[in-house]
Amino acid sequence: MGKKDGASNKGKFYITTAIDYPNADPHIGHAYEKLCADVIARWHRLLGEEVFFLTGTDEHGLKIMRSAQKAGLTPKEFVDKQSLKFVELCRRWNISNNRFIRTTEEEHIRVAQEIFNKIYKKGDIYLGQYVGPYCTDCETFYTEKDLKNGLCPVHAKKCEIVKEESYFFKLSKYKEFILEYIDKRDDSIKPDGKKEEIKNRLKAGLEDLSVSRTSFDWGVPVPKNPKHVQYVWIDALINYISGVDYPKERFRKFWPADVHIIGKDIVWHHTVIWWSILKAAGIKLPKTVLVHGFILSEGGEKMSKSSGKVINPIELADKYNIDAVRYYLIRETPFGEDGYFSESKLIERNNTELANDVGNFANRVLALISQKSQGVIPKGELDREIVAKLNIEKIKKHFERFELHLALAEIMGFVKQCNQYINEKEPWKKSGVELNNLLYTLAECLYAIAVMLSAFMPATSDKIAKALKTEVASLKDIFSGKCLTQSKVESRCILFEKILADNKAKTF
Ligand code: MSP
Repeated sequence: MGKKDGASNKGKFYITTAIDYPNADPHIGHAYEKLCADVIARWHRLLGEEVFFLTGTDEHGLKIMRSAQKAGLTPKEFVDKQSLKFVELCRRWNISNNRFIRTTEEEHIRVAQEIFNKIYKKGDIYLGQYVGPYCTDCETFYTEKDLKNGLCPVHAKKCEIVKEESYFFKLSKYKEFILEYIDKRDDSIKPDGKKEEIKNRLKAGLEDLSVSRTSFDWGVPVPKNPKHVQYVWIDALINYISGVDYPKERFRKFWPADVHIIGKDIVWHHTVIWWSILKAAGIKLPKTVLVHGFILSEGGEKMSKSSGKVINPIELADKYNIDAVRYYLIRETPFGEDGYFSESKLIERNNTELANDVGNFANRVLALISQKSQGVIPKGELDREIVAKLNIEKIKKHFERFELHLALAEIMGFVKQCNQYINEKEPWKKSGVELNNLLYTLAECLYAIAVMLSAFMPATSDKIAKALKTEVASLKDIFSGKCLTQSKVESRCILFEKILADNKAKTF
């Protein structure tokens, strides 16, 4: 592709989540994925980049059709109702997506057809007969050798045997290309361990992929042969380009995607299948497929709709300060690993690290400025000793390596140092220039903390900035002296209420 097709996109950042099946209500795994993407998106905005963040719902396929039938609705009525719950999830969790795509949108359908056509014309899609196992829960075709003891390897359920006319995509042709691509680019799949998994599966063999169905009609019609609908995964993956208006200006600006963040169960689809489709259609490949772990229930079981063990993320938002939930999930689980959701640990972190450390620091600084300087941040000199303790370069590196938990830990380490700094400097005993320098330094530190935390806890950061009579701006402006004002600051602000253990009584 030429330069105008996206090569000159310095300063832009395009991140996507998987699009969720709305056959049941959102669960905490969906929320966790959107949260991780949100933290990364917000961080890139802080760096001054132009960010496009896409999420949405995957609304076609047999699974949706059957759920709609059960609910006594048409598939369209059903997804119209269900997708609203995922939109609501984004709102309640303060997810800063720029667009929420639904695969039933006309424009998406048009793009999905255009890409299918393009690959067909190239000769990489052909008509044949499919016979083989299909798991409707994962909407995935398997070969006999993929099955474990004759059952779906993910759901341990009996697969349906599908026998029908089908279009096939010449996936097998792309085996060497994919193997090479994985190795050629260090950041093609992250964490690195996932590369081996895909390579090993590829080496075991790659067959052509059935990409259409004729036994039901809830999907994107195949152009020129509408008794076929596209295989739902082909339609779904194409959302990543239709979501940025392929092939128009926004696509040219933002594609290739910088990060597709997904769960560990769909890495194959996002690498082998998606990359091959793009290659066949002559479109650049995304930079990084970023794989997060699963959120499991405290007992260690998978929390998914089919297992019935779900935590409702909207109820969680009703019950707790959403920033405490966001903080807990990122801080508790090393990115890429599985995490166990525990309400008592959430409460513990809320009460100690958030209420005690962040909340107290903010209130100590605001109270000192109010009591010792009539609420006005004095002009003064920055104490470089404390400023040097915020290692921004280290935090940036953690973000580059997608170590969100370590980036957050580093910021929280600085919060602790700031509390310690107040204890040591005893500003209540100071006056004159010394006091002014100290109060000014503390205000700058509090502002810097608000900015750094804004990727993780945006509402809390806004509260701090508001109490300081300013706004959260970009990372490069912290400690610049440009962001604090001479308006009277608030004398206190409540960031986190302590939660009593009894509050835990409600289980999700
Ligand atoms: N619709 C497909 C994705 C198509 S993307 C072109 C799908 N939907 S899903 O609703 O089943 O899953 C959506 C995302 O949530 C996936 O990335 C999946 O890995 C993730 N999670 C599902 N359960 C999860 C947990 N328990 N924990 C964390 N994430 C999990 O797959």
